[in-house]
Amino acid sequence: MKTRLDFMKMKHSGEPITMITAYDYPSAKQAELAGVDMILVGDSLGMVVLGYDSTIPVTVDDMIHHTKAVKRGAKETFIVTDMPFMSYHLSPVDTLRNATRIMQEGGADCLKLEGADGVTDTILALTNGGIPVIGHLGLTPQSVNVLGGYKVQGKSAKAAEKLFADAKRVQEAGAIALVLECVPQQLSKEISLQLDIPTIGIGAGPHTDGQVLVYHDLIGYLDGRVPKFVKQYASISPTIEQSIKEYIRDVKNRTFPEEKHSFNMKKEEKINLYR
Ligand code: KIV
Ligand code: NA
Repeated sequence: MKTRLDFMKMKHSGEPITMITAYDYPSAKQAELAGVDMILVGDSLGMVVLGYDSTIPVTVDDMIHHTKAVKRGAKETFIVTDMPFMSYHLSPVDTLRNATRIMQEGGADCLKLEGADGVTDTILALTNGGIPVIGHLGLTPQSVNVLGGYKVQGKSAKAAEKLFADAKRVQEAGAIALVLECVPQQLSKEISLQLDIPTIGIGAGPHTDGQVLVYHDLIGYLDGRVPKFVKQYASISPTIEQSIKEYIRDVKNRTFPEEKHSFNMKKEEKINLYR
């Protein structure tokens, strides 16, 4: 399994780090077989597998449940799990307890926390306790209601300076990597150059040290519009729907199951249910 030292080496040798989200056993298994460098059990699972319209309803128990399944599917891959909404803000004790549960019960190798203000002390405390942390700046979806929508962050010089300063603080607090979501490529390039730890971008242009995409976006698992920053490598949703339609058709007109799908009794036996 790759560790933070490998990710550090990759940054300094210029080899891009690949990350994809996974939420269950099959997606994790596919990601590992494909050879991804790290897997994120993102709280995006609230939207893409639980059907909520934001990440805010996601709980620590949800994250543990899904991390367990991912771990079973990808035993040899570095697994990062998101601490969900408000699970690292109530008190230091509460935060450490939640983090410990996600590590011990879920089996995560690392946790990801959004933001810098009010969060850097937490990154330090977790790191001191032996829990590696990845930061997350730019568009931080748990703060969607504070940000006022899912918008690109750091477009003005002032906002960019703040984001840059936050990135440095997150690194100083001990983060092992930093996710940059929806920030201008000029800014993420500068941050990537200035930080020692690897940056992993989503909607942050080509200059970050790694890239992350949501599993469902990458393979086209859901219908509907995908964000501008997504590259869809497949469109499996119509294939799934078509397969289910054909199954329904076959059952309705009795062309499934066929002889080859059916079992037979031993030749010499006779059924007599009316004995
Ligand atoms: O939850 C998630 O999928 C994420 C990525 C978009 C970085 O946090
Ligand atoms: Na997330």
